[in-house]
Amino acid sequence: MVSRPHGGRLVKRVLPRDRMEDILRDSRGLPQLDVDDTIYRDLENIGYGVYSPLTGFLDSVELESVLYTMRLSNDLPWTIPIVLDIDEEARRSIGIGDTVLLMYGGQPVGLLMVEEVYRYDKGLYAEKVFKTTDPAHPGVARVMSMGDYLVGGSVEYIPMVRDGYEDYFLTPRETRVLFRERGWETVVAFQTRNVPHLGHEYVQKTALTFVDGLFINPVIGRKKRGDFRDEVILEAYKTLINRFYPRGSVVMSIVRYAMRYAGPREAIHHAIMRKNFGATHFIVGRDHAGVGNYYGRYEAQEIFSEFPDLGITPLFFREFFYCRGCGGMSNEKICPHDRDLRIYISGTKIRESLSRGIVPPGEMMRREVAETILSFDNPFVD
Ligand code: ADX
Repeated sequence: MVSRPHGGRLVKRVLPRDRMEDILRDSRGLPQLDVDDTIYRDLENIGYGVYSPLTGFLDSVELESVLYTMRLSNDLPWTIPIVLDIDEEARRSIGIGDTVLLMYGGQPVGLLMVEEVYRYDKGLYAEKVFKTTDPAHPGVARVMSMGDYLVGGSVEYIPMVRDGYEDYFLTPRETRVLFRERGWETVVAFQTRNVPHLGHEYVQKTALTFVDGLFINPVIGRKKRGDFRDEVILEAYKTLINRFYPRGSVVMSIVRYAMRYAGPREAIHHAIMRKNFGATHFIVGRDHAGVGNYYGRYEAQEIFSEFPDLGITPLFFREFFYCRGCGGMSNEKICPHDRDLRIYISGTKIRESLSRGIVPPGEMMRREVAETILSFDNPFVD
């Protein structure tokens, strides 16, 4: 049995095609709001039920509940605020009860039924979600640059924008059908924003040893400078899966989502999203969804003890490294050897090496994967 959706019911808030045509024909009369990349992707996730049970952007009661208790007001775990911000000028152009046309890149992407417009405290928001107000933290920086007001209200998503990744996307309804067709009772989900190194491969394969299927679910969307570009991540995974994974045990599809880099809180959010896709288990390794040194190495694992009612089982892994004493990949739970025999996998070293066109050490990344990455002119986000 795949997981039940978070909150019990898979949400669908996608505008039916016939209504879409009517709306777009009459849309000239509607107030419009431009949304950024983060909100646009949140909108899609609400639409397809990736964020079940949310049906829209949080109102002030729900935001306060999420910030202070890490739960919605009905006590359901929810750790990352899903909010739509506007500035003073936009605030003057919309009113409670309005239906607003949401625009992204000049195209209509959704309808928002305005239920509340409210002010919020950015410092408090940042401190609660990111445990810091340091503007050098990319998640904090975004909050600080947001408008001064938030709009609460339900939405309907208009799937109009093409980004070239349509073939790689499955909705939660589709992944659930696929898992069932494959006869998978247990599915472990893997979140990633990176090209695969040996640490990633070992957590995935160790987890897969105990369950029926592996669901690799890379995040496509706004990342920070120096991260790998989306198409590079997908191509690198294709090489890894085709060459080194058993056929029939792996499903890879993307999720469009802007990373928050909120470490522990984001790990819970990531798990909820994968529960909605139908996964029964979720991998949490070292420094999950972290950035810089804002979070402890295993803090994103510890937070799960506060959510015994999450409805998806986390699988925790210590850091995988190459150990010369073991003669292979290992981790501190199973390796008896001295630290100086270990080669730790460093994202920074891998990036440095690839940016000079050099294949990283085989103890960190498979040559076949590295060569796929090096076949791109510039694998990194500028
Ligand atoms: S993340 O921001 O999405 O967490 P990344 O794509 O690097 O970044 O990590 C995906 C998952 O792999 C996370 O659960 C992370 O903790 C885990 N992970 C990454 N490297 C290692 C490693 N060397 N050992 C164990 N787990 C790892």
